[in-house]
Amino acid sequence: MTDTASVNIDALLKEGRTFPPTADFTATANVRDDSLYAEADADAEAFWAKQADKYLSFSRRWDTVLEWKLPFARWFVGGVINASYQCLDRHVEAGRGNKPAYLWEGEPGDTRTITYAELLEQVCRFANALKALGVKRGDRVGIYMGMVPELPVAMLACARIGAAHSVVFGGFSADAVADRMNDSGSVLLITQDEAWRRGTTVALKRNVDDALAKTETIRTVVVVRRTGNQVPMTEGRDHWYHDLVESQPTTCDPEQMDSEDLLFTLYTSGTTAKPKGIKHTTAGYLLQTMYTHDVVFDIQPDTVFWCAADIGWVTGHSYIVYGPLGNGVTSVMYEGTPDFPDKDRWWATIEKYGVTVLYCAPTAIRTFMKWGKEYPEKHDLSSLRLLGTVGEPINPEAWIWYRQFIGGGRTPVVDTWWQTETGGIMIAPLPGVTVLKPGSATRPLPGISASVVDEQGNPVPLGGGGYAVLTRPWPGMLRGIWGDDERYKETYWNKYGDKYFAGDGARIDEDGDFWFMGRVDDVMNVSGHRISTTEVESALVDHPSVAEAAVTAKADAQTGQAVAAFVTLRGGVEESTELAAELRDHVGKLIGAIAKPKWITFTPELPKTRSGKIMRRLLRDISENRDLGDTTTLADANVVNELQSRAAAEADKEQ
Ligand code: WTA
Repeated sequence: MTDTASVNIDALLKEGRTFPPTADFTATANVRDDSLYAEADADAEAFWAKQADKYLSFSRRWDTVLEWKLPFARWFVGGVINASYQCLDRHVEAGRGNKPAYLWEGEPGDTRTITYAELLEQVCRFANALKALGVKRGDRVGIYMGMVPELPVAMLACARIGAAHSVVFGGFSADAVADRMNDSGSVLLITQDEAWRRGTTVALKRNVDDALAKTETIRTVVVVRRTGNQVPMTEGRDHWYHDLVESQPTTCDPEQMDSEDLLFTLYTSGTTAKPKGIKHTTAGYLLQTMYTHDVVFDIQPDTVFWCAADIGWVTGHSYIVYGPLGNGVTSVMYEGTPDFPDKDRWWATIEKYGVTVLYCAPTAIRTFMKWGKEYPEKHDLSSLRLLGTVGEPINPEAWIWYRQFIGGGRTPVVDTWWQTETGGIMIAPLPGVTVLKPGSATRPLPGISASVVDEQGNPVPLGGGGYAVLTRPWPGMLRGIWGDDERYKETYWNKYGDKYFAGDGARIDEDGDFWFMGRVDDVMNVSGHRISTTEVESALVDHPSVAEAAVTAKADAQTGQAVAAFVTLRGGVEESTELAAELRDHVGKLIGAIAKPKWITFTPELPKTRSGKIMRRLLRDISENRDLGDTTTLADANVVNELQSRAAAEADKEQ
């Protein structure tokens, strides 16, 4: 176990309070006792079959629940289904067409309410437009947008015609867009003129133009008008969204898709410089998102759900789009940042729409703590009945603050552990049943099997720590990595053979509850976003002044971890703060602003073993100012002393 992990445990142990569900909450909760766990334990496949019958509308029911040829799963084999039908038509046909699907809040203050019937119409129009542009079943379509309603419309329009979407977070750079479009072989890219962000604009269309100079497969670009500012349009290639949909019919037959047809790919960072295109298919993914959304967030007919993630990440795919729409729930969708025009924007939004469930990342909560409780205190947040977190371990202090100052000391807080790869929530409380412990995601959901194991794959005893693994296939599991089955096997299955290796360290306590403690591989978690150390290193060495670079995560009070880079310059290049700024920008250009190193320490040499391997573990200890212990395997021990003083000077400078 790493030192960081043991530091975390110490912090966790200090908070001993537990929070059983209140009788009031349990009385109306949609899961009220343990029976769901017992049922799933008795026969997991029968359990999932029953959930599929409850949640999914197949136009042809499946024949087999699961075909498991380790490590490749097929769920609900033989079923025919369409994700956009599941999310839209079903509700309209049942007479709920007038229910709002989205209460959309633009950053500048403009708003839109979109009912299920309206969303269906928009999806059909755009689906027809995509067909008219030559997009076919089985194609991949790129989406690079901000948080506007046309983003879920675009995703569902793809699903309607059987094309897989590949959404790229709007904060990524042109190069990152180009890489993902090339890897997925997307034929069309949907974007917008610009996005609003903290009162200024993000030049999405311009980034797309730069990206397209480096892609071969994109033939067509569709541009949604958002800010209305002038953007260059390339004749014959670029089309305005509003022009395309205007003349299209308002209905479009949903394509009959196989349960196992690809619904989307979503790229996530791994331990190499090349992001992985995670594949999710149709029926299993829909079931995982709908079931978990229902039981973990205790969905009620009048729920107003707000997942404050960006749709560019998996959390937004699963809990802004497919889970809530599948369940016919009303969601708030917000375009901008939490501090525009002031630091109470979220709380004003909750009050305005009567939000009942809020789902966000610990990094946001820590930021709100820093801003102060006076911002939430200005607003009536009494509509909230449940709070959730995701993306990184939550420190008990933030958990308690969240419950106290946002949840009014009343609401349960559900800490949900999952990954892009799992499709939906895996380990989390059921709020009407589970005793909550600040800092613990508690236990695997009914139907999910997880364990904490040692290096050899043996379960650790209660109270022990090790690696988190998933021990049975689940409906929403990734079906592989786009174009790279070998990497899929190697990343997740080679370590233990028959168990899915999640890449997370975890501890299991005396009650069997899980405490996640961060990644155990070369993946950093900055503000809940996964960033690969190797990817940032490659971006740094791409700069002409850099000879060598090593990147590690450094603990950060606000963002969880921050990127710390150690950089050796080429001969003759002078160290300077200007150069450090230039290197940060270079990383921003190649990957995106989220990957920019917060700390850059120049060093004449990196600490290496005698065989020439960079000692990353040591660099992390240096950046976090820890005692280094034994450094005898180093080729040159002096390098370390020098680095320690440089890193300390760097840390002082930034304070
Ligand atoms: C981390 C986000 C602790 C974990 C849905 C995982 C968490 C990675 C939690 C996946 C949590 C997510 N407690 N750690 N509740 N939720 N993580 O793919 O390290 O962006 O492996 O999916 O985030 O990040 P991803």
